[in-house]
Amino acid sequence: MRKALLVFGILALGLAFAQVRSFDQIKRSGEIRIGTEGEFPPFNYFDEKNQLTGFEVDLGNAIAEKLGLKPRWIAQAFDSLLIQLNQGRFDFVIASHGITEERAKAVDFTNPHYCTGGIIVSKKGGPKTRKDLQGKVVGVQIGTTYMEAAQKIPGVKQVRTYQKDPDALQDLLAGRIDAWITDRFVAKEAIQERKLEGTLQLGELVFQERVAMAVAKGNKSLLEALNQALADLMKDGTYAQISKKWFGEDVRCK
Ligand code: ARG
Repeated sequence: MRKALLVFGILALGLAFAQVRSFDQIKRSGEIRIGTEGEFPPFNYFDEKNQLTGFEVDLGNAIAEKLGLKPRWIAQAFDSLLIQLNQGRFDFVIASHGITEERAKAVDFTNPHYCTGGIIVSKKGGPKTRKDLQGKVVGVQIGTTYMEAAQKIPGVKQVRTYQKDPDALQDLLAGRIDAWITDRFVAKEAIQERKLEGTLQLGELVFQERVAMAVAKGNKSLLEALNQALADLMKDGTYAQISKKWFGEDVRCK
């Protein structure tokens, strides 16, 4: 009990002292702390060796390198990332956040690092369009733009939320939900990776979004440094190379 209290005390202290760092402070420390989730393949996930990897991890590492900094990755639950960002737990977040008005009130977004959309996934013969979702149960990851979109589709019987996106896929395969709304690249990857071509189908694109990194509200110096690094990588071919590696195409916003 004492020990638990002590540990808690230290954690609380750590949180209280964690502070949002300007780009100058980050540079002086030599290390940039990057927050992500780790449950969103192929963007950010843990591979079979339990190594954090993915398109956004490669990109984050390339950005750190451009800035002359050592990256330190911290993986946390998706719905806690922006809160912890503002508490100074990490310097920036790269976890496939779509730029939304709501989020932009809480944090500052960089220029988008890719463009994509939310898509309906179901078992063969299941719902493919928004209209088909009338009276159906839809699974989405909590706190995502898919959740928001699903809640707006008229006639949906229930929107079931999951802590992690792959849990929604599990329930879809088990027949506990009729459809899953997720990122179109995530859906494609899940079907390929798990050899589900004969089982699942991709339906309609529900919405499109621009996805960006985020810094704590008002952290202008870091925002500018990240935008510059991203622009440089987009220009010097590094971005294209990383994108081709993961998607076979260039996913930057056109
Ligand atoms: N693009 C969606 C959003 O903006 C989902 C992001 C989910 N990211 C993750 N690492 N699970 O909400």
